[in-house]
Amino acid sequence: RVARTLIDQANIRSQLDRRLLGAFLEHLGRAVYTGVYEPGSPLADESGFRRDVIAEVKGLGVPNMRYPGGNFVSGYHWQDGVGPKNQRPTVLERAWNSLETNQFGTNEFMEWCKLVGTEPLLGFNLGTGSAEEAVAYVEYCNVARGTKWSDLRRQHGYEQPHNVKYWCLGNEMDGPWQMGRLTAPEYGRKARDAARQIRVISPNAQLIACGSSNTILPTYLEWDRQVLEECYDQVDGISLHNYYGNTAALTGGSSARYLAMNLDMERQIHEIAAVCDYVQGLQRSPKRLWLSFDEWNVWYRARGGAFANGQGKFAPRLLEEVYNLEDALLVGGFVNTLLRQSARVRVGCLAQIVNVIAPLVTNETSVLRQSIYYPYAWALQFAHGRVLDLEVEAETYPIHAEGLRADFAREDQVPFVDVVATCDAARQRASVFLLNRDLENEREFVVDWRNPTPARVLTALTLTGGDLKAANTFDRPTLVAPQPLELPAVGAKMTFKLPARSYSVVQFA
Ligand code: AHR
Repeated sequence: RVARTLIDQANIRSQLDRRLLGAFLEHLGRAVYTGVYEPGSPLADESGFRRDVIAEVKGLGVPNMRYPGGNFVSGYHWQDGVGPKNQRPTVLERAWNSLETNQFGTNEFMEWCKLVGTEPLLGFNLGTGSAEEAVAYVEYCNVARGTKWSDLRRQHGYEQPHNVKYWCLGNEMDGPWQMGRLTAPEYGRKARDAARQIRVISPNAQLIACGSSNTILPTYLEWDRQVLEECYDQVDGISLHNYYGNTAALTGGSSARYLAMNLDMERQIHEIAAVCDYVQGLQRSPKRLWLSFDEWNVWYRARGGAFANGQGKFAPRLLEEVYNLEDALLVGGFVNTLLRQSARVRVGCLAQIVNVIAPLVTNETSVLRQSIYYPYAWALQFAHGRVLDLEVEAETYPIHAEGLRADFAREDQVPFVDVVATCDAARQRASVFLLNRDLENEREFVVDWRNPTPARVLTALTLTGGDLKAANTFDRPTLVAPQPLELPAVGAKMTFKLPARSYSVVQFA
């Protein structure tokens, strides 16, 4: 039951772009209204933003936040959400069948981003919206003055441009559920047209084309190829999305299989990167696209039917997934995968941030940290600098089974222990993130340090417990919470004892 690796801080895999660890705020359910924005609440500041949520998001240190959707964006007209609040229309929102008052829009989002210290990643409506509307949005946000849309922003009280750099060219445009869905060549042409115009007015914009929404759609990979054949020269990145769950169809209800799902995410990254490189070759292009995994999370219980239909109401309870210990362990696995693949995946967004499939949940008086908060918070706090190349020796276990959905659990064998290490040379810190997928047994993990051996341990935490289905509630908010990880003496060779069913982080100086 021993796994091992050598950690040499000279073995660099990638320089980490912190945008990999972003999150997502959609106009959906109680995410914006009563999550982020609740004027009238004793918890709200003078702008109506919830102070407790600001403190949590700021405390996390989320580097970038995707907004305003999601499926919502494909029917959203950004002009509805700017200008005097009493003149903004209330509309019936069709992605989630909810009432949208537009009291929170782009400028409120920018204000909130400043308060929580995050960079905006805005999306265009390329569903029911036009390329022209998308370009006008960039002009509104990024042009200093002297044009129709930039002067409108100034009239709205925002003298300085918002200077938004990262933009999504639509959302999940391959999905049958998407408003204004297009075929791949149609979407690719529309995205290229919008992108080409956007570059005229905002030359430094980083533009992300919509890639496949998941790995099960029959168009998976073909969609990406056809889209990129139309727009490769005008875009910088392509999106990937996926949601995971411990269901009969995906895992047969097996937690051991479930905890291996980050390797499905890893395979998806390789497959989409291969398509990008194929089109790069076809087009003899010198440009290599990066990937934006801008929606990922566990999501399977609060899904479909009543969970996704707001019945025409304002701020309905939608997609309010309750996360347990095993979900948190898998989210730790996703963090490991994203860090490991950070040479190619530049942007990532945990979907989402508050109330809707989220690490944070509000009620009228407080905000709760769900189990998945912790592995995400650890990534934000401890993953800095460079990701190291590790050769990990670990015993494996079988996960393949007949009759499961074909796009998951494709590996035969997966390692019990999944490890990633980062090193921040400037601050002389190294961090190790460890998932022990063994449900029954503690596993030893031996690290041989080279170059240099750390002098001391600053943090050693683990998330574990006897009940994989345990979840935090407002009544019992710390049922799933970090505990100290038992530590060996610090030296050139260290043996960690990883509890059964655990995700751990150790930071060294
Ligand atoms: O994050 C919830 C939804 O999942 C998003 O709106 C959509 O893009 C995806 O299908």
